[in-house]
Amino acid sequence: MAVREILKMGDARLLRVAQPVVNFDTDELHLLVTDLLDTMHAAHGAGLAAPQIGVDLRVVIFGSGQLNPRYPDAPVVPRTVLCNPVITPLSDEEEQDWEGCLSVPGMRGVVPRWRRIRYQGVDQYGDAIDRTVEGFHARVVQHECDHLDGKLYPMRVRDFTRFGYTEVLFPGLDPKADD
Ligand code: NI
Repeated sequence: MAVREILKMGDARLLRVAQPVVNFDTDELHLLVTDLLDTMHAAHGAGLAAPQIGVDLRVVIFGSGQLNPRYPDAPVVPRTVLCNPVITPLSDEEEQDWEGCLSVPGMRGVVPRWRRIRYQGVDQYGDAIDRTVEGFHARVVQHECDHLDGKLYPMRVRDFTRFGYTEVLFPGLDPKADD
């Protein structure tokens, strides 16, 4: 287990379209998942994608199974390891809400996302995941899966009057909750 360095926006490795996972239940994949979990927990993140630690594979993790102190008003999202995800929006309805990203530390922005989605994929053992979700859960999944296609949330911001430094936008916020 290891806490890995999180790449920051500007690093070309965050812009790649990541490769599909081919082999499941391997030592290599389990080690990657452990590193992602350790790194996400150390950074108090809501999710993390393999490209953020420089690994060019379509693997994301998200959720905690309990309330995240960085998002105290957010509903509980089950801890999930998701490989080779496919997202299908279930309506045209979008929702705007604040996001941050461990690769864009100290900033927040309002990002439009599909309100309701179905996501499919497999876990690290190759077992199928197929869920229909909405709201915060749907937002987290879309944010993490964007990382697999080289997209960071600032690339989706439409209204730059609602994008900036967390300490300025939310002066009362815990400074540790800065990304
Ligand atoms: Ni992110």
